[in-house]
Amino acid sequence: MNNKLNIDWDDFLTNYWQKKPVILRQAFSHFLDPITPDELAGLAMEEEIESRIVTNKNGKWEAKFGPFDDFSHLDEEHWSLLVQAVDHWHEQAAALVQPFKCIPQWQFEDLMISYATQGAGVGPHIDNYDVFIIQGMGCRRWQVGDRNSNYRQFSAHKALLHVEDYHPIIDEQITSGDILYIPIGFPHNGISIGESLSYSVGFRTQTSQEMLSGFADYIIDNLPKGIFYQDPNLKLPEDPYRVQPYELTKLQNQIIDLIKTPELFNDWFGKHITLPMHELNIVTVEPPYEYEEFKSILQTGAQLSRVPSIRILKIGDFGYIHGEKINLPMSVIDMLCQNEILGYEHLQSEETQQVLLNFVNKGYWYFIDES
Ligand code: SIN
Ligand code: CO
Repeated sequence: MNNKLNIDWDDFLTNYWQKKPVILRQAFSHFLDPITPDELAGLAMEEEIESRIVTNKNGKWEAKFGPFDDFSHLDEEHWSLLVQAVDHWHEQAAALVQPFKCIPQWQFEDLMISYATQGAGVGPHIDNYDVFIIQGMGCRRWQVGDRNSNYRQFSAHKALLHVEDYHPIIDEQITSGDILYIPIGFPHNGISIGESLSYSVGFRTQTSQEMLSGFADYIIDNLPKGIFYQDPNLKLPEDPYRVQPYELTKLQNQIIDLIKTPELFNDWFGKHITLPMHELNIVTVEPPYEYEEFKSILQTGAQLSRVPSIRILKIGDFGYIHGEKINLPMSVIDMLCQNEILGYEHLQSEETQQVLLNFVNKGYWYFIDES
């Protein structure tokens, strides 16, 4: 069951991406929900899967975090269940993100799925990511306002940041197969009309703050020796109490030079950006496979599957996975990126087999159980 996405990507990127919200009617024609509300509730019972239930009965907002072991106390209306990173745990749901793999994958965050009852939603809010909200079963009314940095935000509940009233530039109902795209920063509010499911494919970029802090940690770990400011051409200044403009420029450049050193910045970014944003379904192999054993399993025709949504990316001449560098030639890294399933035919050289053995033992790939 594969849903086919019809988007004119050139037109979408030119006119909407990170510019303005849009409804793409029937972007999936004949959309089939890849998951049922019961299955979603099952995922919300798992310890390692992030989930929450938001209620808004009689205008009173509440949020509770999973795992949940009982849903029987919930009313017929005004509550929704939201489950994060379902692409890590549910194969059919994960297939929904496939058509979005043409967008730079370093920006992909996760697939969040929400089941909502009549009148439910999470309230008017602003997200710090770009999102494609695919409407599945049922129907929701969405009101989206314009981007404006002056909106007042407030806590409707300690876990729910809402935004004050805004004038909607979109106020429409969407039904199965429609997509609402909302760029970062646009206030929005979705209210379920009857029971509904929606699928949010989220893309998150990086803030300067997190990059500076992450890169600084990397520099401290990798360049433990201090790099000192030096000015051998110093002339006595008129005012020794004033830091001179040229000195400030030199100080800035001292930091910028580090940022502009590809061996440092690229390596940091590759490791940083492939760290998981949500828990992954990784199980380490105990006891670990030995090389000969691993090779002979592959030779019998067994196949390896990459852990769903583990982050694998290329930067310059190197590949990165799950926060570590992959020490293999780029042609092999290209192959690892492109193929989620591997067989012996993909892993011909001993070097590749040894690297994959290590990754399989760490749980990044696992043998598909044919039984
Ligand atoms: C939802 O699916 O209920 C909320 C999605 C959102 O507004 O970001
Ligand atoms: Co939102």
